[in-house]
Amino acid sequence: MHVLIINGSPRIKKFSNTDMILSKFTEGMCENGDTFEQYEISDKNSWDTIRKAYDENDNILIALPLYVECIPGLLMEFLETLSPKTGNAKMSFILQSGFAEGIQLRCGEAYLEKLAGYLGCEYGGTLVKGGNFEIRFLDSEKKNQATQPYAEMGREFSKNGNFNSEKCKAFTGPEVFPKPVRLLVGFFFKTAVKKGFMKDAESMGGTRPLDYKPYS
Ligand SMILES: Cc1cc2nc3c(=O)[nH]c(=O)nc-3n(C[C@H](O)[C@H](O)[C@H](O)COP(=O)(O)O)c2cc1C
Repeated sequence: MHVLIINGSPRIKKFSNTDMILSKFTEGMCENGDTFEQYEISDKNSWDTIRKAYDENDNILIALPLYVECIPGLLMEFLETLSPKTGNAKMSFILQSGFAEGIQLRCGEAYLEKLAGYLGCEYGGTLVKGGNFEIRFLDSEKKNQATQPYAEMGREFSKNGNFNSEKCKAFTGPEVFPKPVRLLVGFFFKTAVKKGFMKDAESMGGTRPLDYKPYS
């Protein structure tokens, strides 16, 4: 099969975690001869080319990061320029994020299922996984380790043509962390992280506490 892949991150290819994930994913996907072409939404100059590729391809995979619990605005802007497909097109998604709990990606996932329908495509499922904040900061060996699991998902996608297998569903990992972990993370955010944010705010001239509520 041939797959049109669109990286929906607004971050340029060189720094995009989505791109690093796609590198590993396509490595696995192409092991048995599948092919792909890839475009980046971050390069606005290529939008006409991407639209043409969208019109000409029937197996479309959009990979995107979660930005503020939702779809990146730049990707939305691009999607709004597409015409619904007629025929037998399929649209699948890779949705990835910084925070690791699966539950925070479910709203985005539900939207993506609807989106495939809006664009006249059969829904090929969404591969959902968080915990990817640091990929772009890692050295090449650690980057390789962090993205390696996506190669297996590429093989699954190549085999099934979608993300509906149990293996792909289990890939998400924990839906919510166990309570002790949540308490620990909460404590860390209320202390060390808050202090860090406060320092940043002060360096930018902020004088009020971060939780200041002038209208309450
Ligand atoms: C503006 C912005 C908003 C973000 N919002 C979320 C969020 O709501 N939840 C989350 O888990 N990660 C969030 N992240 C983290 C990204 O989803 C994560 O770092 C992702 O791997 C970035 O992929 P990219 O480098 O391809 O853009 C956000 C990152 C940015 C820059």
